[in-house]
Amino acid sequence: MSKPVVVVTRKLPAAIETRTMELFDARLNADDRPLSAERIVALCDGADVLVPTVTDAIDEALIGALPDSVALIANFGVGVNHIDLKAAAARGLVITNTPGVLTDDTADLTIALLLAVPRRLVEGERLARAGKWDGWSPTFMMGHRVTGKRLGIVGMGRIGQAVARRARGFGISIHYHNRRRVHPEVEAELEATWWENLDQMLAHMDLISVNCPQTPETHHLLNAQRLDRVQPHAVIVNTARGGIIDEAALADRLAAGRIAGAGLDVYEAEPAIDPRLLSLDNVVLSPHLGSATHEGRIAMGEKVIINIRTFTDGHAPPDRVLVGVDV
Ligand code: 8YV
Repeated sequence: MSKPVVVVTRKLPAAIETRTMELFDARLNADDRPLSAERIVALCDGADVLVPTVTDAIDEALIGALPDSVALIANFGVGVNHIDLKAAAARGLVITNTPGVLTDDTADLTIALLLAVPRRLVEGERLARAGKWDGWSPTFMMGHRVTGKRLGIVGMGRIGQAVARRARGFGISIHYHNRRRVHPEVEAELEATWWENLDQMLAHMDLISVNCPQTPETHHLLNAQRLDRVQPHAVIVNTARGGIIDEAALADRLAAGRIAGAGLDVYEAEPAIDPRLLSLDNVVLSPHLGSATHEGRIAMGEKVIINIRTFTDGHAPPDRVLVGVDV
């Protein structure tokens, strides 16, 4: 029996590529260069499955051009904002993602940024490395304590809750905005306060963490008007998707001292970053590292394999993404 033909758009961890070769008739991207839409479509000739990542724009045009043989798009990653889900559904394509396995890594990076910005860690590191440190003094490079502060989590799904659990260990009190209130047991465990109204929550927080998916509804959820509600001493961290915050509006406010600081792992037009952010000392920038651990990326690859295997065996894949349902 012939193996399913699987097109993988980027280089994956070696263990995952090896297993993919064993199980499927795999077309791998050996040099890891991002592929054009035309190249992806050409590679999919006669293929059953496409495995994209966040760097591929799987838009309506590309979906329309895919050969009929492709029945599954098994995304390597949990966020699927780069895939036009409606166009995929209209063509009868099944979409899967990799939830759960990158929750802890992304929450860890969120906490790293939530600590690094108020404690001026990266600014201090830059200074020390530049040989500009003149020595200790009682008023040198003072930041702000996180213990006892209020953290407003925008999006209380898996990652938001994992951030909340960690933040509790630092004595931070948990607030959240989510379309739906979380289970009372979770709320009680986290001693979390639900804000139905995002504008109101933003106006009362010391720390803000963005942890919701990017969907048409959450694009620029933190727009200029909402950013104007944020308290001047507050710090904003985003490890979700760049497009959830109006990056230019955020840069304006950080440059003007209207918002105290930001820790960003994601950007609106990756890998481009608003040049103003690059010059600001009150901003810590990381290059989309949320799930970048060996363990996480292998687990993501294993999920992709399980989804493909289950689907091509004729069963419902475990991580099917449904249009119109929380992603
Ligand atoms: C991944 C992510 O690295 O899974 C996600 O949604 O944002 C990242 O952690 C990336 O998406 C892989 O495609």
